[in-house]
Amino acid sequence: MSSHPEVPRHIAIIMDGNGRWAKERGLPRLEGHRSGAESVREVMEACIELGVEYLTLYAFSSENWSRPEAEVNALMALLDRFLDEKAKDLDRQQVRLLAIGQLDRLPESTRALIERIKTRTADHKAMTLVLALSYGGREEIVSAARSLASDAAAGKISPEAIDSDLFASRLQTAGIPDPDLLIRTSGEMRVSNFLLWQISYAEIVIVKKFWPDFRQGDLFETIKEYQRRHRRFGAL
Ligand code: IPE
Ligand code: IPE
Ligand code: MG
Repeated sequence: MSSHPEVPRHIAIIMDGNGRWAKERGLPRLEGHRSGAESVREVMEACIELGVEYLTLYAFSSENWSRPEAEVNALMALLDRFLDEKAKDLDRQQVRLLAIGQLDRLPESTRALIERIKTRTADHKAMTLVLALSYGGREEIVSAARSLASDAAAGKISPEAIDSDLFASRLQTAGIPDPDLLIRTSGEMRVSNFLLWQISYAEIVIVKKFWPDFRQGDLFETIKEYQRRHRRFGAL
């Protein structure tokens, strides 16, 4: 039970520390978010090279809506620009885009852009990039529970038929393998409502660096750390 693939099949990242990175330099927080986009580019390229199949990036949480309106608006504008610029690269790199989260809370322009890129990249096979936007693990679980309850109430399924597999099939990550490696930058030891169901057995690596300082070399280090871990999944 100890063997695991050399390279994690699915890497999930809590990209934290943009604000602190900017503060350290006496810059506005937005500059940190802007620089963080460069880390995303590097990490994506490295993951494709390494043959990682799924990369999930926590870009905006359900709770992040409670930040000052100016920061939220700036983040949404940055996201639009990132998606717009990235669309061509995703084609070139053969990357499929997916998005999870309460997307209906996003601005119409962002939603339209995501839909367009999703359709356009649907058949790409090199890697799947999953953007977690307006995402909250609890909200996702509640919504899965609601959909099962409504099917049960309508007599479409019996409550006894509900098991882990059926439950997981109602999550937004249905069809995506659980993350093998969860990385969080900037040192905080918490999961902040990210993929609560899916990280049951993920190996967690906390990196001290702020997200805008996270480079390909740092990714390789976390993968090496992952490869040193002994995954047991409850067995011996
Ligand atoms: C992560 O950086 C990006 C988002 C949450 C959108 P933060 O903005 O949380 O930066 P810190 O944690 O305040 O430094
Ligand atoms: C988690 O970071 C969310 C994202 C990286 C998008 P936060 O900065 O929002 O989390 P907390 O507030 O430190 O828990
Ligand atoms: Mg933060």
